[in-house]
Amino acid sequence: MAKIIAGVGSSHVPAIGAALDNGKTEEPYWKRVFSGFEKSKAWMAETKPDVAIVVYNDHASAFSMEMIPTFALGCAAEFPPADEGWGPRPVPVVKGHPALAAHIAQSVILDEFDLTIVNKMEVDHGLTVPMNLLFGQPKDHWPCPVIPLAVNVVMYPPPTGHRCYMLGKAIRRAVESYPEDLRVVIFGTGGLSHQISGPRAGLINSKWDKSFLDNLSKDPKKLTRIPHLEYMREAGAEGIEMVMWLIMRGALDDKVDEVYRFYTVPASNTAVGHIILENKSKGKRPSTAKSAAKSKAHGRRLAAARKTTHRIASKGT
Ligand code: DHB
Ligand code: FE
Repeated sequence: MAKIIAGVGSSHVPAIGAALDNGKTEEPYWKRVFSGFEKSKAWMAETKPDVAIVVYNDHASAFSMEMIPTFALGCAAEFPPADEGWGPRPVPVVKGHPALAAHIAQSVILDEFDLTIVNKMEVDHGLTVPMNLLFGQPKDHWPCPVIPLAVNVVMYPPPTGHRCYMLGKAIRRAVESYPEDLRVVIFGTGGLSHQISGPRAGLINSKWDKSFLDNLSKDPKKLTRIPHLEYMREAGAEGIEMVMWLIMRGALDDKVDEVYRFYTVPASNTAVGHIILENKSKGKRPSTAKSAAKSKAHGRRLAAARKTTHRIASKGT
């Protein structure tokens, strides 16, 4: 059985990618940011997940005003870095995990979360910067396959925090009904507080960010009740990216171990936030009888849902 062992929250500030690509990581301004991720890279190197699910947002690179999927799951074999105006970033092509991605799509959709399936997609700084922060800057390949989940937080209406949290739970059920023994880490990315245009450009609200991180760790349900307007008012227009962290959190145990946290301001216009949360049950492999039974029950529900779907489909033809 596959298992989500941990969640990672990370900002995706594009200037961090530019600092890496242009050899500026030792400059004092950037060293302050990168040094906060040294422990995280060591944690990731030790954790060695088999697959990473990266919840992120596209910034009009793969999608545009022509098409705005709320939740788009990358089911392709690979995802090249997007050209965001300065040529594609010099990072390896992201390799996918089409079999697990297809399983998640099926499980989550039959669980009544209507994802968009994407079989061709380029990925921008929203995905590649958090990857760099946790995996470093590899030359040829990233250390594990990645399933990107793009969330619309660019055009109104983005999904609610509650919907994100519940989707996280559905993703967990999907992962746990996948038969292969895979250790999966899920990323929630974006944020934290920032506003990049208008009269409030440059807004950063450290107090609000820190309370978000505290609740993410200890009382995530409280965060699911935050309305969009509060994100906008307190964390700036782009602070709405933070709802993506709730997908990651929903996929974890109710009680988790916070193993690391880092927060610094500013990087570009943005507060940089980062957290690593481990599931308490992470070490137990093979899975406990209880969770195996739960996953089997979910598998049976899926099989039943598939049968119904097939009956409806064949009636219609
Ligand atoms: C900035 C931050 C973002 O999250 C983004 O997507 C673009 C720019 C910034 O701080 O400049
Ligand atoms: Fe952004």
